Amino acid sequence: MQRVQTVGLTILVTIMAVQGLGCAADPGSEARALPAAAAVDSDRLLGAESEPGNWMSYGRTYSEQRFSPLDQIREENVGDLGLAWSFDLETKRGVEATPIVVDGVMYTTSAWSIVHALDARTGTKLWTYDPKVAKDKSKHACCDVVNRGVAVYEGQVFFGALDGRLIALDAATGRVNWSVATVDPKLPYTITGAPRVIDGKVFIGNGGAEYGVRGFIAAYDVSNGERLWQFFTVPGEPAKGFENETMRMAAETWNGEWWKLGGGGGTVWDAMAYDPELDLLYIGVGNGTPWNQEIRSPGGGDNLFLSSIVALRPDTGEYVWHYQTTPGESWDYTATQHIILADMEIEGRTRKVLMQAPKNGFFYVIDRTDGELLSANNYIPITWATHVDMQTGRPVEAEGARYLDKTFLLMPSYLGGHNWHPMSYNPQTGLVYIPVLDIPASYAQPQEGFVYRPGVSNLGIDGVIAGLPDKQAERDALRPLITGRLLAWDPKTQKEAWRVEYNGPWNGGTLTTAGNLVFQGTADAKFVAYRASDGEALWEFPTQTGVVAPAMTYELDGEQYVTVNVGWGGAFALVFGEYIQPESMPNVSRVLTFKLGSKGTLPEVDWKPVVAFNPPEQIASDEVVDEGQSLYQDICNGCHGLNAVSGLLIPDLRGSALLHDQNGWNDVVLGGALRERGMASFAEQVDEKQSAALRAYVISQAIRGKRVQEERAQQ
Ligand code: HEC
Repeated sequence: MQRVQTVGLTILVTIMAVQGLGCAADPGSEARALPAAAAVDSDRLLGAESEPGNWMSYGRTYSEQRFSPLDQIREENVGDLGLAWSFDLETKRGVEATPIVVDGVMYTTSAWSIVHALDARTGTKLWTYDPKVAKDKSKHACCDVVNRGVAVYEGQVFFGALDGRLIALDAATGRVNWSVATVDPKLPYTITGAPRVIDGKVFIGNGGAEYGVRGFIAAYDVSNGERLWQFFTVPGEPAKGFENETMRMAAETWNGEWWKLGGGGGTVWDAMAYDPELDLLYIGVGNGTPWNQEIRSPGGGDNLFLSSIVALRPDTGEYVWHYQTTPGESWDYTATQHIILADMEIEGRTRKVLMQAPKNGFFYVIDRTDGELLSANNYIPITWATHVDMQTGRPVEAEGARYLDKTFLLMPSYLGGHNWHPMSYNPQTGLVYIPVLDIPASYAQPQEGFVYRPGVSNLGIDGVIAGLPDKQAERDALRPLITGRLLAWDPKTQKEAWRVEYNGPWNGGTLTTAGNLVFQGTADAKFVAYRASDGEALWEFPTQTGVVAPAMTYELDGEQYVTVNVGWGGAFALVFGEYIQPESMPNVSRVLTFKLGSKGTLPEVDWKPVVAFNPPEQIASDEVVDEGQSLYQDICNGCHGLNAVSGLLIPDLRGSALLHDQNGWNDVVLGGALRERGMASFAEQVDEKQSAALRAYVISQAIRGKRVQEERAQQ
């Protein structure tokens, strides 16, 4: 017995050493008494600016600037930065969270809403909590089973689980204090965003507008999870009466019977910021369900509060003002992107501004006291609008942008010019650092008409036209157009200051510091430090996997640390298999923490994902293959990739042995045989005949893929 225990202990120590990457563990670390866990109260959150050593909420302070005043790591010495420790997140799905660090403890989340508490000095695990989300809930997650992090307050850790639960954990032990369902579990809502806490209330919204839900944000009592208020972002069915005057006003801007198509959308899935002086909570509101306004609200209308920034009273949820970035949105142009608050001098006056670079491609500077538009300019090339009219505050749309009669080549695409990856603002350089996407997409009315399918994606655009061209040469020609960059933007002049071009889109969020630095992870598996004033690359570290999460920084015992979660994933990773840079994969999800003088290295990874094609002969007719294609592009491409080219976070169906076995295929697609592994049953949306058509389509793409692979091998 004694011996077994010793062996067990040896293994434990070995694991810790591996996690610490051989860096000598602080011998006193076990004995050191940690301060009370997550002892963050309202005063500390309000005074977060004066506690640069901690990172106590999502964007560091309520203004969400993601600027750290720490300057031990500077442009002059950042070259000495090295890996201090790493922690394996043990997932092969996307990792998007910003870790929170309070008094030496780091709280972060991984895929599937799993929460980890770590010793911020060493990366040693303190506890892990797995909410055990049913894996087939992933069916309602448009953009991977990700989670962007926790909030902490008075000894508790709050997070949203993918299935819509808001859970409060004891920060010291990771045990559940309370858990509430924030949504009707039967509906396709999900939570991926990080909660925020203001004055004893915890706020969380949700996602699901691709599937059909009615968006809202709500406030919960930190002590027991009781819902204190709920603010809907779109009106419900008018005949049932409105919740408040704001909804009555919003309903004036809608047409048709949107509530029959899932509820209008407008989910509040990411951005929140708070101005304590004005006592306003700012939220970003998402796209409509379906995307296509012609179907959602025929005859037009602004469709409030889709694609809007809304200011609310955090105490009551009362509406104060809104600014709509994309009236009558029809392109998935969410305004859920990261919101930053700052005070800046504009035309001789100090203005309290709010800044956002939503999906639609414009950078907005807004007076956050009343929502007045101060300036707007496009930060990437766009085709859907020419400019924002400063008189009306509305975009001037380009002809044909609503794709009513013919296909429109939209820039930016549904992934936006900027997605959830947070930007940052450095008050010393005056610049905003935006992880920009530059991707076109073709939009057209659905040729066969629109079928609303509850429980799966309902975009209302033609999925085949939005897919990839069949000819490989045409696909290859698109590659240079599907790109991204780090853009330093001057919000006062609304002009670019500098840029760093990348080989592809979907790079990480940004962090900026008083050391004149910007940190960003990249899709091609690097973690890079740039000089904040001119964009010169000063240091980089190979992360072995694509990075999408933003970095954060903290200080302990007089030493500054920089942490970034790495692990490729998210919407682009799933959908754009054809265009993913080989360096992004495999997914090796870890927390990486750096400090000056450290020299840690990561163990080698030698897995190279490839698809082995072995398709059967095609016996289905062209009509059946076409039917399969149309269904595939509507229902399956969000996970298995456009035109069945997978990004390989999820298996590439073109390599599936089930292409030879219709019964086995049906067991999975209709019977849910792989439900426990994240492949839900689609029996409610697809019948046996359609399942066969789907298989026939994938066979056609496997034959195509095999041919392309052989052609490439010959070149
Ligand atoms: C929400 C994401 C998601 C969607 C949407 C989705 N799948 Fe899957 N699918 C998965 C995952 C994850 C797996 C892998 C499960 C595993 O690890 O074995 C999978 C596996 C499969 C497999 C088994 C492949 C094999 O050889 O093991 C088939 C077949 C399949 N999916 C077909 C479909 C079809 C057809 C559709 C559209 C009707 C679809 N899937 C939509 C996530 C999804």
